[in-house]
Amino acid sequence: MSGNRRERTDARVFSVRQEVERKRIAFHEKTLPSRRFWCDDAGSMRTTLQGKLVVLPILLGLALLGADSGEECDPTIPNIEGPFYRIGAPERTDLYIPTEGPRLTIVGEVVGHDCLPIPGAWLDFWQADSLGIYDNASEDYRFRGQQFADERGEYILVTNLPGVYPGRPKHIHVKVQGEIDDVLTTQLYFPDDPLNDSDPWHDRSLEVLVIEELPDGEILATYRFQIDEPGVNPCPGDVNQDDAVDGSDLSALLGFWGTDDPSTDINGDGLVDGLDLSILLGAWGDCTS
Ligand SMILES: [Fe+2]
Repeated sequence: MSGNRRERTDARVFSVRQEVERKRIAFHEKTLPSRRFWCDDAGSMRTTLQGKLVVLPILLGLALLGADSGEECDPTIPNIEGPFYRIGAPERTDLYIPTEGPRLTIVGEVVGHDCLPIPGAWLDFWQADSLGIYDNASEDYRFRGQQFADERGEYILVTNLPGVYPGRPKHIHVKVQGEIDDVLTTQLYFPDDPLNDSDPWHDRSLEVLVIEELPDGEILATYRFQIDEPGVNPCPGDVNQDDAVDGSDLSALLGFWGTDDPSTDINGDGLVDGLDLSILLGAWGDCTS
């Protein structure tokens, strides 16, 4: 892997993150104070890619903006663990092996049932190699790696597109855990895999959203895990999650004054009142620093 290739990949990941963030802010400005945008799991969105594929941040944004914010927040469903999980995989985000076919980068986040991020969430990925074979014994733990999400609940996995083995479509196994003991064990799938329909465990809600596929087969995708526990607002008072506590947040709070609206009930005591206003005013300003 050349340094230039690495830098190009990083640039694309950064670009997609920026685009998603921009669309998220735009959406919140239109739908204050709903947070349910983030509950419309990117994994449930579909983008059919045909022919030569190009960067699709605009399509991603349209998909996000077009999502029905009125849908319920559905947690990521569990999926079978299978027989090949190994404890003790190295802590790493890069599993890529140049000789194992197309590179795959998945950028995503872990959120709670309230759609707020789970900082430091644990993720443990494992998958088959290009021939559909798992490394079940070597000390290299090929295509196995655990990691922790960052303070925004975001993770990145750089790997190869998994191979298939008899009876299964392409898939990546993963365990996800937040602050509580429950571990979500599930699998990620890939849209348009012809083997999906005949697979008894495949579920469309577990498909990654493919953002970009390059002519050489390299794929950039995203998936948001939603686990069954509360998340953490990294910026108390930023009820619309646009990384600033400002007039828009104040307007939202006042609009729901005296209600139990969860988006503006900052302290979670069941009532939007002066205590929440105090927190908001105390946090006034930019939350990005
Ligand atoms: Fe498997």
